[in-house]
Amino acid sequence: MTKALEREGVSTAIRRPETRLNALKRSRPTVPLNDLKRGFDALGDQLQAAAARVLSSGWYVQGPEHQAFEREFAAYVGSADCVGVANGTDALEIALRSLDPAPGSLVVTAANAGMYSSTAIRRAGLRPRYADVDPDTLLLTADSVASVLDDDVSVVVVTHLYGRLADIAGIREVLRARGIALLEDCAQAAGAGAPGARAGSLGDVAAFSFYPTKNLGAFGDGGAVTTSRADVAERARRLRMYGWTAKYEVGEDGGRNSRLDEMQAALLRVQLGHLDSWNETRRSVIARYAAAAEGTSVRVLPAEGHDHVAHLAVLVAEDREAARAALAAAGVQTDVHYPIPDHWQQPFVADYAGASLPVTEERSGQILSLPCFPELTTDEIDRVCAALREL
Ligand SMILES: Cc1ncc(COP(=O)(O)O)c(C=O)c1O
Repeated sequence: MTKALEREGVSTAIRRPETRLNALKRSRPTVPLNDLKRGFDALGDQLQAAAARVLSSGWYVQGPEHQAFEREFAAYVGSADCVGVANGTDALEIALRSLDPAPGSLVVTAANAGMYSSTAIRRAGLRPRYADVDPDTLLLTADSVASVLDDDVSVVVVTHLYGRLADIAGIREVLRARGIALLEDCAQAAGAGAPGARAGSLGDVAAFSFYPTKNLGAFGDGGAVTTSRADVAERARRLRMYGWTAKYEVGEDGGRNSRLDEMQAALLRVQLGHLDSWNETRRSVIARYAAAAEGTSVRVLPAEGHDHVAHLAVLVAEDREAARAALAAAGVQTDVHYPIPDHWQQPFVADYAGASLPVTEERSGQILSLPCFPELTTDEIDRVCAALREL
């Protein structure tokens, strides 16, 4: 009888009666890391109206929505110019090329920021050199950058990781004496800083991604280069459009097609009006998590004040896998941003065999991202906090 049941795929193991706690856990949906549908639903009518406007306009690339977004985003950031492009990685590469660095020169960057800057540096025909990050903020510092500079370095890329502004004033000071350019990677930091002096206006040039999960996210891919240097803006405009100086006339090498389309521009204009309040909400989510984690075995990186837009809620744990398993058991989704430092990525390990980045390397095994987006419900935040208190 038992054998017959097993052949039919029926388990004959003795079942324990289900506890109330397990039943409760099974009946509650997971707290998601992100939920883009809720973001759409929150602004549904405004977004539908913007989309309909574009569809009926007959203009789908490089039109009035795109021009208006470039103007409005430059004003918001506090830069003289904004050049819309197709995504954040293109923005980094075009920004680098716009600085006109010596071919093959070195670009200093962090190795803990998801490989995006390294990808752009390599694609621009330049060579990454890595500086270590601060153990508390996980950002580059003036000292860590200064320690790796020499005459072959043409540019430093500073990523405002997790939404927190790096010490740009300090880093600029170190670079000024050597005439090295500063590129801000603002993909995770849209809106950080004070009005008129926000991320994207603090270096020579900056790159933004509008990937859907970003604080300012499109409904597809998108990106932008911002700068107050007229020469850099002019080159960026050419580079995103085949290197053209005039129609069908190529005046700049290294060009490509990288455009922000009318639909994304129109939808981003709607979103931009809500960015500051979303960032405030994100900060309040992290404040709750940080308070809940006090006195536990983990530490949630704080996100206080306007210099932090709380893109990701990140905890640091000695035993990351145990924390992750406990959170999963409590129905909390997590991810790691980022698990593999750039100099350990398989195709490049041989190039950076001598690199020593102890903080970057150690933290890559300790960090864990928690659910963090403006539409999280109070119940969901409470559930994450309850799970954190148990760690
Ligand atoms: C810090 C950082 N830089 C660059 C990028 C690249 O942006 P995209 O995915 O739009 O190419 C991202 C995100 O994806 C990012 O988080």
